[in-house]
Amino acid sequence: MGESAGPALRSRVLSSGAYLPSRIVTNRELATRIDTSDEWITARTGIKQRHIAADGEVTSDLAVAATREALARASLTHDDVDLVVVATTTPDETFPATATRVQAKLGMTRGFAFDIQAVCSGFVYALAVADNFLKLGQAKTAVVIGAETFSRILDWEDRSTCVLFGDGAGAVVLQAGPSIGSGGDRGILSTHLHSDGRLHDALYVNGGPSLNRQVGVVRMDGREVFRHAVVKLAEVVEEALAANGLTGADIDWLVPHQANQRIIDGMARKLGLGANRVVSTVDHHANTSAASIPLALAEADQDGRLQRGQLVLIEAIGGGLAWGAGVIRW
Ligand code: UT7
Repeated sequence: MGESAGPALRSRVLSSGAYLPSRIVTNRELATRIDTSDEWITARTGIKQRHIAADGEVTSDLAVAATREALARASLTHDDVDLVVVATTTPDETFPATATRVQAKLGMTRGFAFDIQAVCSGFVYALAVADNFLKLGQAKTAVVIGAETFSRILDWEDRSTCVLFGDGAGAVVLQAGPSIGSGGDRGILSTHLHSDGRLHDALYVNGGPSLNRQVGVVRMDGREVFRHAVVKLAEVVEEALAANGLTGADIDWLVPHQANQRIIDGMARKLGLGANRVVSTVDHHANTSAASIPLALAEADQDGRLQRGQLVLIEAIGGGLAWGAGVIRW
């Protein structure tokens, strides 16, 4: 599609979808395999369990399942979709983009599809990119997906990382609509992205196609990431609120990246939000990287917590380091 020069457009969220692999691994099960305990994991992170993909179940399978649900909930089909953006750090293959696998598995014969690699911030980045395509009129309907099989890049002997992550996928359907008139105030209000590649060593995977032939495993200095997370998330959230003339009191729902309940609680305190205005899934999903925010959005959307017209604040930080935030009127 080419650019159109009509009235200003806004990307509206039409629906959400989620998929979690059926196998659940509890902290207690992990404690039978490595030197850890349910008490340590719960106290330090809030995590109680995670879903792990079955052998042969790949990221695009998870993404397709979440997308099918989101499309059905919007009463749309794959034929209505112009753009597929998959945020993932665990693509099916080095290339092509997992998004093109998703496109094919959905049965799409038109449109365009590509991946975004911003690790745990991937969904915020993907939402920002899709939003810009929609606002420019280069696509009308987009599916933005966060999908991960993070279990495949974990060192299952490193207790400082392997207990933290899980697999899953979440998706939202976005559609461009006029930013004036009835419902014109609904949609993505703004997104704010940052990265600082000097902080690479805090969180990375020690392999890749150009470095060597191995996929590699996650290496993380948890304390260092925690330290940066607290500061950088506070800054980017402040930036997002200020850009929209808002304060924490205006936010109906904080839907943060789900890495650690302590980080989530800290942000809620900073914003003056009670736990009843924070969507937390970290106890039952663990950290699903790019999938964590869309999974949390889907859960709160589908159980009726998120109501049309409410203000939703999303934020995330992860490898890069890369971080970002966004404000959505649901
Ligand atoms: O999504 C990407 C962004 N990532 C994050 O936001 C992660 C940010 N970081 C964190 O969430 C936390 O730093 C962790 C949960 C990763 C770690 O919590 P912590 O309170 O910072 O613990 P620590 O790394 O300082 O480790 C404390 C102790 C250490 O033992 P010593 O050195 O004090 O004797 C670790 O060896 O806990 C030990 N430890 C464990 N013990 C039992 C580390 N992992 C485990 C484990 N079970 N799984």
